Amino acid sequence: MKKGIIAGIALLGAVTMAATGCSGGSSAASGGSKGDGVVTVGFAQTGSESGWRSANTESMKDAFSAKNGFKLIFNAADNKPENQIAAVRNFINQGVDAIVIAPVVTTGWDDVLKEAKDANIPVILEDRTIDGSSDLYKAWIGDDFKKEGETAGAWAKQTLGDNATNMVVLEGTTGSAPAIDRATGFDDAIKGSQIKKLDSQTGNFTRADGKTVMEGFLQKYGKSINLLFAQNDDMGLGALDAIKAAGLTPGKDIQIVTIDATHDGLQAAANGEFNYVVECNPLLGPTVAKTVKDVLAGKDVEKKQTAVDQSFTPEQAKTALPDRKY
Ligand code: AHR
Repeated sequence: MKKGIIAGIALLGAVTMAATGCSGGSSAASGGSKGDGVVTVGFAQTGSESGWRSANTESMKDAFSAKNGFKLIFNAADNKPENQIAAVRNFINQGVDAIVIAPVVTTGWDDVLKEAKDANIPVILEDRTIDGSSDLYKAWIGDDFKKEGETAGAWAKQTLGDNATNMVVLEGTTGSAPAIDRATGFDDAIKGSQIKKLDSQTGNFTRADGKTVMEGFLQKYGKSINLLFAQNDDMGLGALDAIKAAGLTPGKDIQIVTIDATHDGLQAAANGEFNYVVECNPLLGPTVAKTVKDVLAGKDVEKKQTAVDQSFTPEQAKTALPDRKY
């Protein structure tokens, strides 16, 4: 299959994926296990910053279970890039069959990924992307962060863009792919509108920091804020506390658009406190596990496997909530 061509849309496990490009498989045609039939995988997770992250970790642990033929060595890096790189080096030293990484930040990966390649250990990226040669990993499985930002921005432009609107932004982890790409997508989408960005600061994808940073915005800009773009649900949920404490009504005095569409985010939309929520599907485990097995079996795998996401108005959130899996 030719690189760069959308290869098709396949239902794999829990997530609808669009797959692009093709990558050669590993030479370990035995399936990668060391003869005992068990595939040992090191998973370097970012941390436990959000509801999305908890759902992603659960999905990965379920998919990489003993019942499915895996031994999973799990590490959560507390969102510290240096911890995560040390964890990957540790996996290499342990001689795992494959390494899966949800990179905290996009940079700093070249050396350790070359070490994995030299040790003949295939690397699969999940969730977040990196800056660096795509020769250093076999596949990436995740969501389209830029498109999520564009979807959020398109809603803001359509809803508020004809009138003078003052916006504040709660950004995710500085240097992470979702923080970078969501900002780019949102800013592109609101071009030509009357939405003005008053301020944009990191809330580290956490509720606690979302609340603290929003308190600062409210102290500085008071009632002039009309719109909050929170780059994930958790920061938006933290901001709700700050907005209510300031005597304002979220969803009315300040319109709020967020990304993730976790159960808590959709509940806030159903309550009328979030005005629009864009999905980022965390249930990537089954697709990642299948890709690891295929790579170790020497099969060609799609290099880029992108989950297909939806978005929700408050009414749509009410309908979706009873069946929401995360
Ligand atoms: O990389 C995905 C992002 O990371 C999610 O939007 C956020 O909630 C998480 O922590």
